[in-house]
Amino acid sequence: MNQALARRRFLEFLAASPLLAQQPPAKDTGMQDIFNVMDFEPRAKAAIAPAHWGYLRTGVDDDLTLRANRAAFDRLFLRPRRMVDVSKLDSSIELFGQKWPTPIVLAPAGSQKAYHPEGEAAVARAATRLNHLQILSTVTSTPIEDIAKIHRRPIWYQLYPTSIWDNTERMVRRAEAAGCPVLVITVDTQGGRNTETEARSVALDPRPCSACHPVTSDGRRGRRMMPMFQGFQTQEFTVHNPAQTWDSIRRYRQLTSMKLILKGLETAEDARLAVEHGVDGIVVSNHGGRAVESGRGTLDVLPEVMDATAGRLPVLIDGGFRRGTDIFKAMALGASAVCIGRPYLWALGAFGEAGVARVLEILTAEFRLAMTQCGTIHIAAISKSLVGYHSR
Ligand SMILES: Cc1cc2nc3c(=O)[nH]c(=O)nc-3n(C[C@H](O)[C@H](O)[C@H](O)COP(=O)(O)O)c2cc1C
Repeated sequence: MNQALARRRFLEFLAASPLLAQQPPAKDTGMQDIFNVMDFEPRAKAAIAPAHWGYLRTGVDDDLTLRANRAAFDRLFLRPRRMVDVSKLDSSIELFGQKWPTPIVLAPAGSQKAYHPEGEAAVARAATRLNHLQILSTVTSTPIEDIAKIHRRPIWYQLYPTSIWDNTERMVRRAEAAGCPVLVITVDTQGGRNTETEARSVALDPRPCSACHPVTSDGRRGRRMMPMFQGFQTQEFTVHNPAQTWDSIRRYRQLTSMKLILKGLETAEDARLAVEHGVDGIVVSNHGGRAVESGRGTLDVLPEVMDATAGRLPVLIDGGFRRGTDIFKAMALGASAVCIGRPYLWALGAFGEAGVARVLEILTAEFRLAMTQCGTIHIAAISKSLVGYHSR
């Protein structure tokens, strides 16, 4: 028997073997055509109810700030460096004494059960499996105690300061009791916002809100029945407290020993004030284009905030991060970490926990590749000299 014939017989023998017949078929994840995080967006749109899709997609007014976030990345190029031994690469960062394998953090986002029945819990399982920090929203659709239990390490809690101090205080106490070391106070929606794209989608969605949202006994849509709002003495409050000032920081300090981070700063002036008022960190953010209209992309804001803070506190950033090179650009400009929002929500809507994990894997692989190609074997090596601005 010649060699080729012998090989064929052997393969036929293998194919007929009962051992092989018992092997489960290769797992079909449904993600074979997902190559980057943007690929999740159309899949999510198909899976999510129209009104919820509008909430996920929306910016404010004409969505100019939303688009500015993405446009900012195109103005920067990378300056790759060659002939560096990149065989051992360490992409880990440290934040408030905790080490994380990458700078990729899951931004707080409300009502995740609107995209998948397992909501925040599915996100938590993916985050803890791949060792990423999750920031839980005030308007989480799963109680903080349940999410904290899923994680091996403490999560952070995002606070919308409500207009009733007693309500705010109760949420802070709950976050503390659940073991959160850091309170992320969102300050960019103070006084409200105009999420017009969302409003259009809600108007066009024929289903009654009560199909998805608990409704109060007097017939109001039940945002006030969210898990973190349970036990409030009064339900007459807004999460866009219009009365906050820099003096409020002192009050939070007296209330809690958690680290205080302000999320939503967009100017050098406010960054300086944050330092003066002793906050522990900043998230440069425009709420994913969902706060002020005619704002700048957050990557355009970052340099002035870095100058103003001069290394005195960690500066995180979010808004439009979709590629590992986007993350690299922010780290080169001095960011301590990068939060992502919509990509993991798209993935959650389309594939649940497995989708969220895939988003984290894709962004990690892309970021590490950008590090490799720029010859940076650890985060401290990622410097400003590795990016440049296109001339107009
Ligand atoms: C659907 C949705 C819900 C959000 N909910 C919250 C929230 O509850 N609290 C908060 O501070 N930010 C919230 N954000 C803003 C995110 O934390 C983050 O700033 C933003 O998503 C980053 O931009 P990206 O979506 O382009 O990645 C939300 C964003 C989206 C898209």
